[in-house]
Amino acid sequence: MHILHVVGARPNFMKLAPVYRELARRNVQQTLVHTGQHYDANMSDVFFRELEIPSPDMNLNVGSGSHAQQTAEIMSRFEPVVLRCKPDMVLVYGDVNSTVAAALVCSKLMIKVGHVEAGLRSFDSSMPEEINRLITDRLSDLLFTPSQDANDNLEREGVTVDKICLVGNVMIDTLTRMLPAARTRMPVDVPERYALVTLHRPSNVDDIPWLSAMLGVLHKVGEQVPVLFPIHPRTRSRLLSAGLHVSAPNGLRFCEPLSYLDFLALQARATLVITDSGGIQEETTYLGIPCLTVRENTERPVTVHIGTNVLLGRDLQQLLATVNSILNGDFKRGSIPPLWDGLAAQRIADRLLATKQ
Ligand code: UD1
Repeated sequence: MHILHVVGARPNFMKLAPVYRELARRNVQQTLVHTGQHYDANMSDVFFRELEIPSPDMNLNVGSGSHAQQTAEIMSRFEPVVLRCKPDMVLVYGDVNSTVAAALVCSKLMIKVGHVEAGLRSFDSSMPEEINRLITDRLSDLLFTPSQDANDNLEREGVTVDKICLVGNVMIDTLTRMLPAARTRMPVDVPERYALVTLHRPSNVDDIPWLSAMLGVLHKVGEQVPVLFPIHPRTRSRLLSAGLHVSAPNGLRFCEPLSYLDFLALQARATLVITDSGGIQEETTYLGIPCLTVRENTERPVTVHIGTNVLLGRDLQQLLATVNSILNGDFKRGSIPPLWDGLAAQRIADRLLATKQ
């Protein structure tokens, strides 16, 4: 069996790592294609190094662009690669532009597609990732889901149950493997209690008045507890072009994007996390760390129903009030969703190899 993996952006790499490792252990032939959607060393290379993912066999070097440009560029550069490699199946990950572009190419060439992290829905079509999820799932032959809600979504959309495989969360495979190493490091000098912040969604950072209002509130949070904010390149460029200061004198501290291990180390010891990321909602749930999500919706509802996540939408007063509650020791306790046990990649490999026979 020959599996070709397509990845391109930072959140893909921690999902790929356990699947690649498990298939290698079972001596499956694998080809790894990086689209180059993310290209900065601290958005890509460092993840390959820390997660011990082999160097990609090919990098399509597509870089940044509008959604149409980036998606089209990936498609036209990926098509000859997949024609040449003739894999039995292409595995795509998550919901980024690289995911949907590769799935579209394969579906026209009648090459089978497996989607890792299928079935998640925010039901918010203004989110580019939601379009990517819907189309990728529609085109996929095997849909590997992280939680029961994803199965329910797919069945409601008419996907036949034989294509859906509830495997659990591959992000948690990586987290459980890396956590002991992360716990031995402290990459940034932080006190006992601190808040960790990440924001990069277009709905938050491309809306400059809103971004400015959020920064104002983060400064207020910083008066109560030190705040560390590793800045995604998109957010940095928005802050700079809007003339919003990137360095702050008091409780709010900015830094460069962190490596997987460094970020996990900080996440695992944080008093609270404020984010708009999808993966971080899951990681904080696993770690039992309070997570305040600055979004109206989430495609990962188990993190709210079972885990430590709360959705705050655009209510900045509520954000401040919730931070205060947490600092006073008052916040819900979560638990870990079923099948978030570090064995999702094994279940994916079992299913892939069973398909072949
Ligand atoms: C992409 C994903 C998003 C994911 C995020 C994680 C899509 C539609 N979005 O968003 O789901 O949560 O990755 O980071 O695929 N840039 C750099 N260096 C890089 C990469 C990007 O400077 O290595 C800058 C460029 O100015 C670029 C901007 O960041 O235009 C946005 O990059 P892009 O890949 O378009 O989307 P993300 O916002 O990173």
